[in-house]
Amino acid sequence: MNTKLDPWNSGEISDYSKLFEEFGISPFEALLPEVPNPHKYMRRKIIFGHRDYGQVAKAMREGTPFSAMDGFMPSGKVHLGHKMVMEQLIWHQAQGADAFFGIADREAFSVRGFSWPKCKEIGVEEYVLSLIALGFKPEGHIYFQSECENVKDLAFELGTKVNFSELSAIYGFSGETNLSHMLSVATQAADILQPELAEYGGPKPVVVPAGPDQDPHLRLTRGLAGKMNMFRLEAREDKNGKKYMSVRGKAAPAKALKELKNRIPGKVRLYEEHLDILEFSDPSGFEKLEKIVREVALEFGGYAFLPPASTYHRFMSGLQGGKMSSSIPDSHIALTEAPKAGAKKVKKAKTGGCVTLEEQKKEGGKPDECSVFELMLFHLIEDDKELLEIRKECLAGERMCGACKQLASELMYDFLKDHQEKRELAREQLDEYGINYKKE
Ligand code: TRP
Ligand code: SF4
Repeated sequence: MNTKLDPWNSGEISDYSKLFEEFGISPFEALLPEVPNPHKYMRRKIIFGHRDYGQVAKAMREGTPFSAMDGFMPSGKVHLGHKMVMEQLIWHQAQGADAFFGIADREAFSVRGFSWPKCKEIGVEEYVLSLIALGFKPEGHIYFQSECENVKDLAFELGTKVNFSELSAIYGFSGETNLSHMLSVATQAADILQPELAEYGGPKPVVVPAGPDQDPHLRLTRGLAGKMNMFRLEAREDKNGKKYMSVRGKAAPAKALKELKNRIPGKVRLYEEHLDILEFSDPSGFEKLEKIVREVALEFGGYAFLPPASTYHRFMSGLQGGKMSSSIPDSHIALTEAPKAGAKKVKKAKTGGCVTLEEQKKEGGKPDECSVFELMLFHLIEDDKELLEIRKECLAGERMCGACKQLASELMYDFLKDHQEKRELAREQLDEYGINYKKE
């Protein structure tokens, strides 16, 4: 079976393990011990995969600069799924990341056909207010793609490194796809690379926490990061099987290559468009070499992007089972929904309980097929122990669904009420976040 990842039509993903084999996403579990103070989605295996997150974990451990970035297409109501992504961004910010939140209005304009004022309104009223209410700090950056010169300029430059064949291989674009839709893809790549621009302190690890449907964008951006760089480091082998490194700089100024030759300790030969490093005499090895190459590129005005990292979380299922979808009202809860109505949806949600209480006492329930348990797992219960206890009691037939529904609906009510109060406070703080917006 061919698992298709389509960012504009994210179907249900039935088997996450296929993503490992087919796309080279790595399992997150192996990395967990390297993450200081892991987020609950990491501990609970809701984040199941990643690309290159090791470099981010390392920066967190060592206190070196790193960044986290996410973008949201302003398409409709902000809901629990968005909350998941926002919380991860905010968590990274609390761990020291320079955090970026981009409203992908160029994408909404080109893919959904929304007007600019509508993009702005949905962007602020839905996404930005909730982001701030959930705890995003003003040190981070909130921006609209259409207002961000960095992103627009970088998107245009990135466009020189990607052609139509590649886009159609990654996204299935056809002759019908409009040019602005293609540009919005380059714009997303620019969103992801922006934190590595000199203005924000230059190259650094950047993580994009996302659902697996966004992976095509990450594959594209990781490729572009390499192609944009002034120099490319390559491992090579001579006729006799002796290994050496080579630095290619096709579009690099001749002066930059010469400078590089001067700075690399060891036996280095300079050619017109590249250097061969026959011997590198620095004990710290490859990492040091990479560092020198990056420094020289930056000094001569080039990019030296590190390929961005990503993490991937499992999607929640719908409250009635099946898929959670914004077009099925009873399947999801919006963050702006009346608290009472939200609590009621929890009460009506599908559980993993049995038809009769007798049966459930005997057989136990199925918390892993229960959307009420999922709500507690993803959103409502912070304490792992409490959650494990509920799971255990359920499995043993010592807990009945009524108790869970009661607890979860109360917690949902409290969350929505509190969140909505915070959203109103956030409205007063928009200035602090550099957002120029007044409600009509
Ligand atoms: N394509 C994303 C969506 O559909 C939005 C997005 C734009 C994004 N730029 C991004 C996501 C950068 C992650 C990183 O919602
Ligand atoms: Fe779900 Fe709770 Fe019922 Fe178990 S007892 S199936 S966790 S609602």
